[in-house]
Amino acid sequence: MTSTKGLPVSPPATIEWVPDAPDALIPGRVRMIDQTRLPEDLVHLETTDVEAVWEAIKMLRVRGAPAIGIAAAFGAVTAVQSSTACATPQFLQELDDAANYLATARPTAVNLFWALDRMKRVARAHADQSPGELKETLAREAVRILEEDLEMCRAIGRHGVSLLKDGSTVLTHCNAGGLATSRYGTALAPIYLAQEEGMRIHVIADETRPLLQGSRLTAWELQQAGVDVTVIVDNMAAHVMHQGRVDAVLVGSDRIAANGDTANKIGTYGVAILARAHQIPFYVLAPTSTFDMSLQSGDEIPIEERAASEITHGFGRKTAPDGVKVYSPAFDVTPAEYITAIVCEHGIAKPDYRESLKQMIDMNPATWSASDPRTTTP
Ligand code: MRU
Repeated sequence: MTSTKGLPVSPPATIEWVPDAPDALIPGRVRMIDQTRLPEDLVHLETTDVEAVWEAIKMLRVRGAPAIGIAAAFGAVTAVQSSTACATPQFLQELDDAANYLATARPTAVNLFWALDRMKRVARAHADQSPGELKETLAREAVRILEEDLEMCRAIGRHGVSLLKDGSTVLTHCNAGGLATSRYGTALAPIYLAQEEGMRIHVIADETRPLLQGSRLTAWELQQAGVDVTVIVDNMAAHVMHQGRVDAVLVGSDRIAANGDTANKIGTYGVAILARAHQIPFYVLAPTSTFDMSLQSGDEIPIEERAASEITHGFGRKTAPDGVKVYSPAFDVTPAEYITAIVCEHGIAKPDYRESLKQMIDMNPATWSASDPRTTTP
């Protein structure tokens, strides 16, 4: 999957819509990499079943905030494409039911709710269409969400690469790469862009306990692309920073509150504190669809708790005694004061984030988050 020049050649699509016939999007099916199987097996999951899409989001077969949003949009299409509703109001009700159901899959990444809300808004804006026409309109919208994501990731990469120097080493936590988006990723986008520009960037990937998105996914996709990557166990980050091996930290986000407080994979907050202690810049990279301007601070961000078995029986082995109590939040919130800058598709926001995030989001109303008070459902 690497070209002769070492540049990434089209990696397999993280998620896509596969129409049954070339002349229409409907009927079709959603196809995604089953990320729970990486790095051992590169296998795809194909389905026309909304419950299978819900399960894929819940079980992290598809994961990462932007990819979850795309999957949810396609999930909504799978739900309504078989609708037998003759009248549009009934069809819209079925869409709402599917969206409400998909919204229960995971609570933290705001992109899930943003994408579902966008699908509902588009349907209502075309309420003059028949159910048959609306199915095609919704499939087009879901594909548009995917295509826009690709553009946003590239734009984030272009802004982010300006923060790196040839020969830099960056540390990242979890996976905010192509597997977490349509392609390129958010935190990893500058790495891919730097590679395209012939810069040499070394990446240190935190393993990311308990589900190992860093070692299973980030290391896999960077290695596939020919990027120099080293995996460390999470509790080594302080040591490698102290050794002077890290020039910058780049992470993604699941939700950013209006004041810049940022939810990301559990362990990110600790990395931010370490970066501050070692005077290393700590950058968050995320599209504006990850901003949630309706929340004043990170205290309001809902934090998902995962099943105890992900800790007690990680990857096929018993790793804790039977009956032990387990607490397993999937995300933490890094306070804005630890964040050097937030890079989105419109540019680089610096503190004071209340002002700078607002300026970024105002640049494109289409990317206002679902819960943004200015985003109204007609
Ligand atoms: O539980 P996950 O694997 O979905 O967590 C993903 C992350 O924390 C990512 O860093 C975040 O969603 C940003 S993806 C561009």
